[in-house]
Amino acid sequence: MKRSHLEHFRPICPWCRSQRDEAYLLVLAQQIVANEEEVWEGTLHCSNPACQKEYPILDGIPILIESTRAFVSENLHFFTMRDDLSETMESILGDCCGPGSSYDSRRNYVGNYAWDHWGEFDPVERLPKTQPGSIVRLFEELWHRGQPLLRETPIHALEIGCSVGRGTWELAKKTKQPVLGIDLHFGMLQLAQRLLKTGKVRYSLRKTGVVYERCEYEVPIQAEAPLLDFWLADALSLPFLDLSLDWITSINVLDCVQQPYLKLQQMAQRLRPGGLAAFCTPFDWSPNATPMEGWIGGHSQRSPSGGRSEAKLREVLSPGQSGNSLGNLQLVDEEQSFPWKVRVNDRSAVEYSAYIAWAKRLADPRPS
Ligand SMILES: C[S@@+](CC[C@H](N)C(=O)[O-])C[C@H]1O[C@@H](n2cnc3c(N)ncnc32)[C@H](O)[C@@H]1O
Repeated sequence: MKRSHLEHFRPICPWCRSQRDEAYLLVLAQQIVANEEEVWEGTLHCSNPACQKEYPILDGIPILIESTRAFVSENLHFFTMRDDLSETMESILGDCCGPGSSYDSRRNYVGNYAWDHWGEFDPVERLPKTQPGSIVRLFEELWHRGQPLLRETPIHALEIGCSVGRGTWELAKKTKQPVLGIDLHFGMLQLAQRLLKTGKVRYSLRKTGVVYERCEYEVPIQAEAPLLDFWLADALSLPFLDLSLDWITSINVLDCVQQPYLKLQQMAQRLRPGGLAAFCTPFDWSPNATPMEGWIGGHSQRSPSGGRSEAKLREVLSPGQSGNSLGNLQLVDEEQSFPWKVRVNDRSAVEYSAYIAWAKRLADPRPS
């Protein structure tokens, strides 16, 4: 965790915010492995004397989750996983654990996103021969049409669901300001934090079944590395002050969270009036990620919207026009279809058609 980012983004206690609707800043308490720029291992405390909740910083990643105890115990294998094993030993463990195990799904998930985000810098030519970088093309579109909608270059810019970090890097190149990427997946954030520290990425890429190949290469990130930081935080309980952000990017995350409406509400609350949310989603609803009651569209095709997600989202982002609207986040531009590709293995990838929305934070209506 960079000290510069702690000062710039001023995180608050997610527990006090969600349980008591109170905003208390987090302060550095212990610095176990640290230097002048960053804390690699330590703790943050809630500054509320009645709370004093403790948030660990591990591998440079602060864990800013409302229920730290439940989260850490459910994700312990991520926090204690070794990364110094040879490719041979990793393959023996992979064969023993088998497909679908937490070991396998971590390698698979991190590897395939790392391939899309960073694969253009891999000097080795690998299968599939199609280009990685669909995240970069999506980000460029979000920025290209979103930035002119703002009066100034954003000073406080956040990416929600940053995964292994490429979108956040692109954001830093544009804003030249400290930017922050947050995600819930510790393994992805570890890759991103280690890249900032070493200038290299290292991951295992799934070829077929439980056969993986080790990839390790340099990424020319040095110029922007001081501007980047990656924190573990929940899109549904953002640890930031209300009205504190100018820009939020979120790429393919809305249909991955338990409560998509709450995610939009959190973004609206944290943006300043005039701030912009630029996000996209393939609306690939699945009960594994989101209970059907939480889907935005995707059901009730007898209704006037025909169950179309774009139409339901438009209602949510049209203040004053429907009972479903958030009230202060206004859709200002949209794009119906933009390609997004996710690698599966050497010979398979899924191509989605993402819907893009740009929504502006309005001033809250004056109480009458
Ligand atoms: C489909 S992936 C997209 C990753 C990346 N934005 C991209 O397009 O390459 C969804 C990402 O959202 C993250 N995510 C899911 N639920 C989240 C939540 N509640 N808060 C923060 N991140 C979340 C996942 O860990 C994952 O990295």
